[in-house]
Amino acid sequence: MSIGKIGAYFDERADTWNEQAEPASAKHLMVAQLAGVHEGSRVLDVGCGTGIMERAYLELDASSIVALDLSEKMLACARETFADVPAERLRFECRDILDYTNDEPFDAVVIYNAYPHILDKAALVAATASLLKPRGRFLVAHGMGRDTLNAHHSSVPHDVTSDLLPAREAALDWQDTFTIDMLADTSFAYFFGGTRK
Ligand SMILES: C[S@@+](CC[C@H](N)C(=O)[O-])C[C@H]1O[C@@H](n2cnc3c(N)ncnc32)[C@H](O)[C@@H]1O
Repeated sequence: MSIGKIGAYFDERADTWNEQAEPASAKHLMVAQLAGVHEGSRVLDVGCGTGIMERAYLELDASSIVALDLSEKMLACARETFADVPAERLRFECRDILDYTNDEPFDAVVIYNAYPHILDKAALVAATASLLKPRGRFLVAHGMGRDTLNAHHSSVPHDVTSDLLPAREAALDWQDTFTIDMLADTSFAYFFGGTRK
């Protein structure tokens, strides 16, 4: 896996990311709620990019949000957008989820629009489990359906992304460690999630 290449790929796109990114919307609130985020939650946002999900977590009164990304430039945009939010509440870190550790476990780990770019799924499942509280919830979700996303990624190099598999198939990687209790794979929605066993 080429982490440097993935970070560099998104560094190059950081300046214009918000022009093509989804506008903040009820969809982000729905994703955050599907991930079980509520007042007082501790949330880990994996592959946060320019911070598209953070408003939803703040609006739901999450008490602590850690947002990780490999791309310093994506994070620079995110930090600028949320400069007025105290770091105790929202912290952006340039880290790879696969070797991230944290002293306090999270209630929710959200992987939004980032799953295809994290190529080692077994390592991702293990990292997610190690970062969650017992019964903590993970959610893999996308802002568009699988076929649309895979078509969108058709020109992206294979060491930067992977095809999104049918959600039922993708969830198999998670089912030994998590109880999968939600899943959708339609032309407009793709998500699966569950709680740590
Ligand atoms: C398609 S962007 C999505 C960004 C944001 N979630 C959004 O919806 O706009 C995927 C992001 O995941 C990040 N990423 C990829 N692999 C990662 C890893 N192993 N750890 C942390 N972030 C990663 C990339 O740098 C990139 O910014």
